Amino acid sequence: MDTDVLRSTAPVPARTATLPADEGWWRTAVIYQVYVRSFADGNGDGVGDLAGVRARLGYLKSLGVDALWFNPWYRSPLADGGYDVQDYRDIDPRFGTLEEAEQLIAEALALGIRTIIDIVPNHISDQHEWFQRALAAGPGSPERERFWFHPGRGENGDGIPTNWVSSFQGETWTRTRNPDGTPGEWYLHLFTPEQPDLNWNHPDVRREHEDILRFWFDRGVAGVRIDSAALPVKDAALPDLPPGSAPAIGHPHIDRDELHDIYRDWRAVADEYEGERVLVGEVWLEDAERFARYLRPGEMHTAFNFGFMTQPWSAQAMRDSITRTLAEHAPVGAPATWVLSNHDVTRPATRYGRADSSFAFDRKRFGTPTDAARGRERARAAALLVAALPGSLYIYQGDELGLPEVELPLDAIEDPMHFRSGGVDPGRDGCRVPLPWSGTATPYGFGGTPWLPQPGDWAPLSVDAQEHDPASTLNLYRAAIALRRDVEDLAEGGFSWLELGADVLAFRRGDGVLSITNLGPTPVPLPAHHEVLLASTPLDGALPPDSTAWLALRPLPERAGGAHH
Ligand code: NOJ
Repeated sequence: MDTDVLRSTAPVPARTATLPADEGWWRTAVIYQVYVRSFADGNGDGVGDLAGVRARLGYLKSLGVDALWFNPWYRSPLADGGYDVQDYRDIDPRFGTLEEAEQLIAEALALGIRTIIDIVPNHISDQHEWFQRALAAGPGSPERERFWFHPGRGENGDGIPTNWVSSFQGETWTRTRNPDGTPGEWYLHLFTPEQPDLNWNHPDVRREHEDILRFWFDRGVAGVRIDSAALPVKDAALPDLPPGSAPAIGHPHIDRDELHDIYRDWRAVADEYEGERVLVGEVWLEDAERFARYLRPGEMHTAFNFGFMTQPWSAQAMRDSITRTLAEHAPVGAPATWVLSNHDVTRPATRYGRADSSFAFDRKRFGTPTDAARGRERARAAALLVAALPGSLYIYQGDELGLPEVELPLDAIEDPMHFRSGGVDPGRDGCRVPLPWSGTATPYGFGGTPWLPQPGDWAPLSVDAQEHDPASTLNLYRAAIALRRDVEDLAEGGFSWLELGADVLAFRRGDGVLSITNLGPTPVPLPAHHEVLLASTPLDGALPPDSTAWLALRPLPERAGGAHH
């Protein structure tokens, strides 16, 4: 038995697609996040699947996106929506087959759309072969060394080994039973007990992940999104944390310096392939300098900009965050990323309609009052604001439809974050409700009875309903993506702020385009311009509150796509 890697790298499949060579594609790409389970259901069982995505590739093409990022699609018990991977080299049967994934990658590429997949290095599923073998092998076995098994404190070993707190609240250790049924060692899990942490000091763990990268790069995948990228390495001494301590240099399980060796190795693997395969990090770190270290040459290509995503609807907060973002990326030569939401956070159309419009995991509550109309307007304005900024852009599925966060009935919620909070936090399922495609009642063309219930008032938000309405959010996104690609100043022009008042965010791209967002309570006169390229709301000479306009300051050269909206 090969104990180093579960399966050695398969020969390159004949169907490996050739990726286009356009260098630096990821620097300005528009990347659409597909939460497969909730995108489209091809076989009518109420769970989104790869057949559903393949059937809707035309939709994604018409949206104009350059790449798709798929949340984990691997075989998994779905204890944490697939972030508990049981087998990296297979697709979960609820989503489809490996062959379908290969077809999907190739079909998307044929439309000019690249595929990015999720890799979850910090942990695997407790049902993964490695963990099952480790449990069976017992204390002191080499199988256990791939994880963090540890005796408990105290005479009976019933004291928890460290006081570390889970990202999902609660304790980070679970006690096992020995093969003979007696209470045994504990194992570390920064998330749920179904997600045991891997030991990244172990060479098997390193080799296995490099092999997984090759497995998928061989199949034409253009990049990986690295889950919880600042967490995998642990201080092997397992020290306790002083109570209330924030992440800091030397923290036992956040942002350890040794992580950079891992990502340099991964980068070397990615660079073995033609067509620029990219590493995108999920790096939640307050410290700008520590964050930027992940983006140094030879490490990751980009990382999510959560600093901006968590800002409230405030000109000053957003201006400061944009300035900080551009400044922290400049020294390492990496492009910024712009992210309004993802599968973990409150939908912008809801968040921006709340008194506290910033985002923090520990402040989510049921029944938070929301001005839905205001939230919708602001989310449209924010979409244009970020689409005008230099760097790459992420769109979480459904944001292009202006979907709100759904307050689900308690018995529908599956997210462990909800349960581990003692039911106080609604969890993340409210942004994971299956998409409405057509029709006037649930399942709105999604497929079978959706695994999470859809609200009864989503008919006007469906793709079909928005398709032919020129003022719809869907068409706003389409127009913005097309302009961003076709207007050279927006695609590549330099960035400079313009001072148009404390409540206004205005900046120039190149010398031809001005983006202006009004975050204040009164209309703002539009500065002199040649043409309004796009606006999030109808204009009559002034920019209303909660809206963004893109202005051409001079006649722009004929654009590749011809008429733009
Ligand atoms: C971050 C992912 O985005 C989230 O959905 C997941 O629960 C955790 N990492 C753990 O993998």
